[in-house]
Amino acid sequence: MSDGSSFSITTPIFYVNDVPHIGHAYTEVAADVLARWHRQRGDDTWLLTGTDEHGQKILRTASANEVTPKEWADRLVTEAWKPLLDTVDVANDDFIRTTDERHERGVTAFLQKLYDDGYIYAGEFEGFYCVGCEEYKQPSDLVSGTGAYEGQQVCAIHSIPVEVLSERNYFFRMSDFEQRLLDLYESNPEFIQPDSVRNEIISFVKQGLRDLSISRSSFDWGITIPWDSDHVLYVWFDALLNYVTALGYGSDDDEAFQRLWPSVHIVGKDIARFHAVIWPAMLMAAGLPVPKRVFGHGWLLVGGEKMSKSKLTGIAPSEITDTFGSDAFRYYFLRAITFGQDGNFSWEDISARYQSELANGFGNLASRIVAMLNRYFDGAVPARGPLTAADEAIDALAKSVTERADASIAEFAPHDAIATIWELVDALNGYITEQEPWALAKDDAQRERLATVLVTALRGLGTVAVLISPVMPKATEKLWASIGAGGSIAEQRVDRAWEWQGADTAVPLESGLFPRIEQVEQGAA
Ligand code: ME8
Ligand code: MG
Repeated sequence: MSDGSSFSITTPIFYVNDVPHIGHAYTEVAADVLARWHRQRGDDTWLLTGTDEHGQKILRTASANEVTPKEWADRLVTEAWKPLLDTVDVANDDFIRTTDERHERGVTAFLQKLYDDGYIYAGEFEGFYCVGCEEYKQPSDLVSGTGAYEGQQVCAIHSIPVEVLSERNYFFRMSDFEQRLLDLYESNPEFIQPDSVRNEIISFVKQGLRDLSISRSSFDWGITIPWDSDHVLYVWFDALLNYVTALGYGSDDDEAFQRLWPSVHIVGKDIARFHAVIWPAMLMAAGLPVPKRVFGHGWLLVGGEKMSKSKLTGIAPSEITDTFGSDAFRYYFLRAITFGQDGNFSWEDISARYQSELANGFGNLASRIVAMLNRYFDGAVPARGPLTAADEAIDALAKSVTERADASIAEFAPHDAIATIWELVDALNGYITEQEPWALAKDDAQRERLATVLVTALRGLGTVAVLISPVMPKATEKLWASIGAGGSIAEQRVDRAWEWQGADTAVPLESGLFPRIEQVEQGAA
């Protein structure tokens, strides 16, 4: 089945201090759609996700809730983060937790190697720390607080006061890698995408890199520094390593690491810097290949502001899926937002697109074609007669849409891929309106023409179904049960979607693909 290329893709591992909102679900869905597409073109595909469980942020939340940090993490992983994957229908291949033994073992091996090779040293450090970001801040990263924090300097992202931390710490010689990183960005323009994020990171590195404080001794919720048990590892150094420990780095069995690394990282632009600066520097120090790509997508905004847990603007993914279903959630966020740019979420927008693009556009197209094949041919798919220019145009469009959508996915542009697939949906609806099969059906002499029109439409519909199946696995599986020749639609090749010729029969759809939504206002309250 494999064409030999591997496609290993990751999401960030999310902090378990709180439950997920639709921003996290967006990242999961984007990575899952890319992974499903690659799987359906025969690539050796692997989707990794998971949770980030150490550090002060989690420790403080657990203390405030009077449980141990591990108890807190277990609860949130079981009750919130793993269920999220079902809610938005993510088919991940692995789920790593930074409290997994396999992770701690790999991290320990990695640290010891860097220490032995002279990339880590002991030193003193004082600076402003944001617990929200789990990051030391430069004075230029701070803004004046408002409201309760009037008169204090606060983190520009979290709007909470920073703390002055002063510690004797271990440092990673990140400054050694400044030039090698700039060379990497220069020689591999695809390494950081989109260009807006790439430019920001290049100018950040050009300002000069400092060595990075990578240990803490004021609390103990973290991975112990192997040569100094008074210190635990800085949470970001710990977290970034999940991408290789999950593949078996540092264990006796690193077959997956050899086969699948380097991966592609999908992250929000808020954390692109950690992935495109610290992480490749760590890998270079260890003599390991850097990631294939770091893609920093934009933010979901609510009322123009980044949706966030700390600002209480979070919307739970289930608020949307309970009304619209997981397919519509997946479709909407990937279609409405240019991948790489910010996007505003609104209930009006998702309702409008659900109605016009899914229910009326795709759903209605499918119901009409299947219903007419049943009404006029008893569900037995006939052969096509001679083709007219209009029929040939549909066949040709199916091929061109397949090729262009595949190219858009290769460029990490799922919004373009979906828009391209909708060219075929719209063309098929137009074709049926123009060809008027219901009129042809009234004339026995037009029997062959009727067959040609319905089968041309059916073939186009099958192409649409296969192409959109990575985005909407549930609705397309239902459609496939009606028009496919058995098997799962997930086994169909997206890169050959245009070749599909229709099965022998078309079974009536039991219900519409996208049911009528009665109470869209419900979520808007
Ligand atoms: O940063 N819009 O975890 P985190 C879009 N543990 N995406 C959003 C979003 C929004 N408004 N809000 C959050 C961490 N996200 C670290 C990562 S990785 C080695 C360690 C998504 O729980 C987006 O992917 O704060 C963002 O980068 C991520 O959640 C941050 O999740
Ligand atoms: Mg965050």
